[in-house]
Amino acid sequence: MSLKENILRLKKEKNAVILAHYYQTPEIQDVADYVGDSLGLSQKAAETNADMIVFAGVHFMAETAKILNPNKMVVLPDLNAGCSLADSCPPDAFKVFKEQHPNHKVITYINCSAEIKAMSDIVCTSSNALKIVESVPKETPIIFAPDKNLGHYISKVSGRDLVLWNGACIVHEAFSIDKLLKLFQENPGSKIIAHPESEAHILDVANYIGSTAGMINYVKAHPKEKYIVATEAGILHKMQQEVPNTLLIPAPAQENNTCACSECAFMKVNTLQKLYDCLLNESPKIEVPETIRKQALIPIERMLELSK
Ligand code: 13P
Ligand code: SF4
Repeated sequence: MSLKENILRLKKEKNAVILAHYYQTPEIQDVADYVGDSLGLSQKAAETNADMIVFAGVHFMAETAKILNPNKMVVLPDLNAGCSLADSCPPDAFKVFKEQHPNHKVITYINCSAEIKAMSDIVCTSSNALKIVESVPKETPIIFAPDKNLGHYISKVSGRDLVLWNGACIVHEAFSIDKLLKLFQENPGSKIIAHPESEAHILDVANYIGSTAGMINYVKAHPKEKYIVATEAGILHKMQQEVPNTLLIPAPAQENNTCACSECAFMKVNTLQKLYDCLLNESPKIEVPETIRKQALIPIERMLELSK
């Protein structure tokens, strides 16, 4: 039996569901029950009847699934699947930041730890951040954390002043604007689409800005000969399946980057073998202390309610 067949067999035996993010390797995406963006994955985690959730993504995503499902087993193929953005917001420092801005509503991007979510009023993802910010009365000041690039973009489109935490995603900050503009000139008729974790100079030249699912839906709805795609390169797998006749070009990274486009090393620590192993061994498990879990659940549920 192949590894894939063994995964499917075990999944059935254990009544497990495999949820995967678009940045996972193609072989992991192909074995998943659902592949989606952070919002879609949390919605699936909230509604699943499975006994076990195998989260093929990074730690904060699996942790969100556990917060929503305290009585289900949640496993992550590799505990080293972290996130530079989540790491850029340590709870102790964020607590001080919050105290420095009393009377502010705290909106946090889902890419943060359970401790940070527990200090938040509402969680958001890149696909609903604008809606979440706009749900707060205009006169109420807002702290937006941890992604300053997404925060800056939402501040611009909403016309709201946001107090930003100084965090960022190393993957989306790796794009080179000079190389991107050169590539654009070399490909007449192409359009640029970008994830809002990218820096403002990248977003300024994009024809569309949205979450991973948003970007896939956009290229489906707007068939073009060529798209230059500024997000983690793993998205190209599903996107290409949706638009087989479109040339998809990954946006180029700066010279000193480890790869020519931009890959998330955290997402890529998960492998099909590790996915099989975690399903078989029921480990590594994600656990969240109950007091933190209860507090973190409130802003996640607010987000899910506002996203219906
Ligand atoms: P979305 O898939 O929600 O757009 O998020 C991208 C990301 O960076 C996940 O870590
Ligand atoms: Fe975190 Fe960036 Fe990787 Fe997403 S792409 S998991 S934000 S480091």
